[in-house]
Amino acid sequence: MRNTNEKYGKVAIIIHWVMALMIIALVFIGFSLDDIEKPLKFTIIGLHKATGTLVLVLGLFRWYWMISNDSPAPIEGMSKADIGISHATKWILMLALIGMPMSGIIMSMFAGHGINMYGLFEISPMLEKNIDNAKFFGSLHELGAYAISGIIGLHVLAALKHHFINKDNVLRRMLGR
Ligand code: HEM
Repeated sequence: MRNTNEKYGKVAIIIHWVMALMIIALVFIGFSLDDIEKPLKFTIIGLHKATGTLVLVLGLFRWYWMISNDSPAPIEGMSKADIGISHATKWILMLALIGMPMSGIIMSMFAGHGINMYGLFEISPMLEKNIDNAKFFGSLHELGAYAISGIIGLHVLAALKHHFINKDNVLRRMLGR
């Protein structure tokens, strides 16, 4: 269940892949919104908001899990520069797990909208409507989306390089092998 100094535990592995799928879907859907006609667009935005809010909850748990667990050590033979880049990428992604959903939630609430969690319950807008503020957080959300797309691309390329070029176990240990 828990991580050790050498391996990721089941919880970290499951949460990594579930969140990876959710975030890739959110980015893809977010950038496709302009091409979708109303009223389908409103349904899709509703699902985007609910799923993004779920990412915040999982992201908070992921922070807790990271802090309360060991982290597997960098594999042998990695250069100092590679270790530095992998740490920087990890911290940017960890911050994005909180920053992206929060900017989306604050944008929506300033725009006067609540969040319908898949029809199960509604989170009401807790902020007074202010369109300028909504636009500001919308721009942060958009900028963050471009940044997170670049970082995810880098992260995937690095994982593939480790697996196919360096032939080490960096990707395999996140697959639980
Ligand atoms: C990890 C979580 C999230 C990711 C990766 C993400 C990603 C994106 C992306 C890529 C866009 C398109 C940006 C653009 O071109 O303007 C977008 C738009 C949007 N997002 Fe998110 N999002 C996340 C969470 C949320 C949450 C939690 C909410 C609200 C509760 C939200 C609300 C919105 C809205 C309303 C738009 C449309 C903005 C517009 O077109 O005016 N997002 N998101």
